[in-house]
Amino acid sequence: MRWSKPWLWLPPQCAHDISPYGARTLGALSFSKVPPQWKPLKWKNLYFPNPLGIAGGVDKDGIGTPGWWRLGAGFCEVGTVTPAPQSANPKPRVSRDEETLALWNRLGFPSQGALKVKHRLEKLKRPYPGPLFVNIGKNRNTPLDEAHLDYEMLVQNFDHIADVFVINVSSPNTKGLRQLLDEKNLNQLLLRLQPQLKESGKPFLLKLSPDLSADDLKKVLDVSMKQGANGWVLTNTTLFRPPNSKFPETGGLSGAPLRERARNFLTQTLEHLGSEKKDHLVVAAGGVLYPEDVMDRLELGADLVQTYSALVYNGPYFFQQVNRWQQRPKTTSTLKNERPG
Ligand SMILES: Cc1cc2nc3c(=O)[nH]c(=O)nc-3n(C[C@H](O)[C@H](O)[C@H](O)COP(=O)(O)O)c2cc1C
Repeated sequence: MRWSKPWLWLPPQCAHDISPYGARTLGALSFSKVPPQWKPLKWKNLYFPNPLGIAGGVDKDGIGTPGWWRLGAGFCEVGTVTPAPQSANPKPRVSRDEETLALWNRLGFPSQGALKVKHRLEKLKRPYPGPLFVNIGKNRNTPLDEAHLDYEMLVQNFDHIADVFVINVSSPNTKGLRQLLDEKNLNQLLLRLQPQLKESGKPFLLKLSPDLSADDLKKVLDVSMKQGANGWVLTNTTLFRPPNSKFPETGGLSGAPLRERARNFLTQTLEHLGSEKKDHLVVAAGGVLYPEDVMDRLELGADLVQTYSALVYNGPYFFQQVNRWQQRPKTTSTLKNERPG
């Protein structure tokens, strides 16, 4: 695999750090200035030229944003951004397993901080070629009962930049963060955030953990709907480990080992929402590695799809690959084999 994908020779952390710069450069060299149009979506006042975008964490500081659109992403997510700048957790913090197409990270929201990222994104040319999501998270030193102040500050700072906010309460790498998904805590957090979110006038999505039990998932969906959430991103990385996993017990696992869990989570979510889904936005992520995975999530009922792992194992031209794939002439045998085993 490595000869055709030279970035896999780089240490995983290095590849992660330079990929936004790579996107910026490759994007600048690209002939197309706008994302290709396929399965476009109109949602609220936003237009998604296609339903495939970059997941949170791919470009935490918004360094390569225009490049991702030029490479073909239908929408971009920047972040997780934290209010104050903070460094990553101690090493080791990023790893991959090429045999199982797995990724592991324990980064813990390294961020250049709200002000620097805001100033960078303010320079983007308007209108954006596709919607811009800003994923927000609390600083690791902010106590849980003050978390709402961090999210409030971020909404305030990015409300003129973001088309959509993604509230990240599901990373396993910030101590205690997932406690904000407990029914009572979530209710309180969203209640406290509501005035700021209303003032911003921007829709907000909640990014969920795939490690919630079926019952807790239902509670989270109900509470967030009651508190005005406009949708969900399903899912963040998992603490679950398949047998013989070579990764540490802590840290989040993603890529192929997350695929089935993320698919089930999506199905459970859509089943529970039923007719209540209405215009809530459901964004699928987790183990999307091939064009077939993108179509599979859309067929399961997701409105949009995001990927991190495909950019690692497939490369920066994944968006174009999916575009070409969905245009291919369909024969009976390709129709029978839409999803890889
Ligand atoms: C190295 C790395 C860093 C990540 N950082 C973030 C982040 O800052 N915020 C976030 O919401 N998700 C983050 N994620 C999770 C991804 O957005 C995504 O939800 C998850 O990796 C599942 O998608 P995948 O299987 O395509 O990798 C990160 C994932 C990886 C692998």
